[in-house]
Amino acid sequence: MKNETAKNVMLWAGAGQIGMAIARRMGYGMKIIVGDRNLDNAKSVAKIMNDAGFDVFPMEMDLSSRESILAMIAEGQKYGAIKMLVNAAGVSPSQAPVETILKVDLYGTAVLLEEAGKVIADGGVGVTISSQSGFRMPALTAEQDEQLACTPTEELLALPILQKENIRDTLHAYQLAKRCNEKRVMAQSVEWGRKGARLNAIAPGIVVTPLAIDEFNGPRGDFYKNMFAKCPAGRPGTADEIANAAELLMSDKGAFITGSTLLIDGGATASYYYGELKPEE
Ligand SMILES: NC(=O)c1ccc[n+]([C@@H]2O[C@H](COP(=O)([O-])OP(=O)(O)OC[C@H]3O[C@@H](n4cnc5c(N)ncnc54)[C@H](O)[C@@H]3O)[C@@H](O)[C@H]2O)c1
Repeated sequence: MKNETAKNVMLWAGAGQIGMAIARRMGYGMKIIVGDRNLDNAKSVAKIMNDAGFDVFPMEMDLSSRESILAMIAEGQKYGAIKMLVNAAGVSPSQAPVETILKVDLYGTAVLLEEAGKVIADGGVGVTISSQSGFRMPALTAEQDEQLACTPTEELLALPILQKENIRDTLHAYQLAKRCNEKRVMAQSVEWGRKGARLNAIAPGIVVTPLAIDEFNGPRGDFYKNMFAKCPAGRPGTADEIANAAELLMSDKGAFITGSTLLIDGGATASYYYGELKPEE
């Protein structure tokens, strides 16, 4: 019998500014499950959105735990078909040590894409937020890229390039995690495609959010402020500008886009390689 109250479901990880901008843009009329390690963050975005006519259920969810991810998915399945995934959970280089960055941004994202891919409905779409940081590192070898893309999730953190002695600092760990996000999206989009679903990443430059503000106030604050001042756009971005891109990727206008990472950074990466932001030799 048809469940008359069933709704299409959006799973949304990371109750921050970028996630909320995307959920507001894409989630009207859906049952939205928002999971965050910090339950207060999830509750406060749920209140803002429910007061604006959305249907958001907040829950505690730790992206670095498969069990926690599965609990969020199970909660979503109570309401209907899982049609959308928004992954905007993460920690930045100034917020956490190397191990946490790898466990949350790299491993957690890989597990979420894998588990959501098992339940995503036909016609479903997903987007995960990587970073311009993934574009800053020199190219890895073809073998390392394939390892990041395809190694089974439970073996990922044992890869040689992810061992402590091969990681300089938290920024390097973040760059590796975000490069891995791009590679996982490519490999997982093949699995999602088998189910008639699409999966993409957005790699933002500096977007003003609590996470970015922690970076402005952290040890690399001047570096980041210089980056947005000297990039072609001459300013940081906003979460709503990231939602503009998510709308393209997640709507039918993006029907031919899958397995892709869209860089939206005001030109900072271009300038880093070929302009004013190029590091001095
Ligand atoms: N803001 C930027 O300049 C920028 C640039 C590039 C990439 N990003 C990426 O965008 C994503 C969203 O960040 P934002 O800028 O919206 O920041 P934000 O601080 O507004 O939101 C991040 C949210 O993730 C949550 N979170 C952290 N660890 C978690 C975990 N283990 N499990 C579940 N939730 C967790 C935090 O509690 C927070 O609510 C992150 O992956 C970040 O790396 C941000």
